[in-house]
Amino acid sequence: MSEFDVLTAAAKLARENAHAAYSNFRVGAALRAISGRIFGGCNVENSTYGLTICAERVALFKAISEGERGFDAIAVVTDTDSLTPPCGACRQLIWEFCGDVAVILANLKGKTEILRMRELFPRPFDSSHL
Ligand code: THU
Repeated sequence: MSEFDVLTAAAKLARENAHAAYSNFRVGAALRAISGRIFGGCNVENSTYGLTICAERVALFKAISEGERGFDAIAVVTDTDSLTPPCGACRQLIWEFCGDVAVILANLKGKTEILRMRELFPRPFDSSHL
């Protein structure tokens, strides 16, 4: 039992809604706000391929658009033996809006790894450079 079990379960649930008609690679994410609210997201693909949006950014934009600011953890769930970390674009945005949060990677078999954004995204470009 970890403090991230509920968050990981929310990411698993969100994954069920993945629209991965082209890659068939279904991803679920769940972002926890400091307020305690959890926002789920899934990847949403479309025929252009390039306008696909990842599960992590869906969760993040849902939270931001609901007025949330300040987060402490994000979980990412896939059905793969090798756990799936956020892509580069998602790392940039998670860093910008969430900072050095815990990143919980998990698969459907219960394999889990807990990382921090700092490890995943060293020397980021952010507003401190502007
Ligand atoms: N994808 C995510 O949703 N999150 C990740 O962390 C990695 C990739 C999606 C995008 C696309 O729909 C599919 O997985 C294959 O790249």
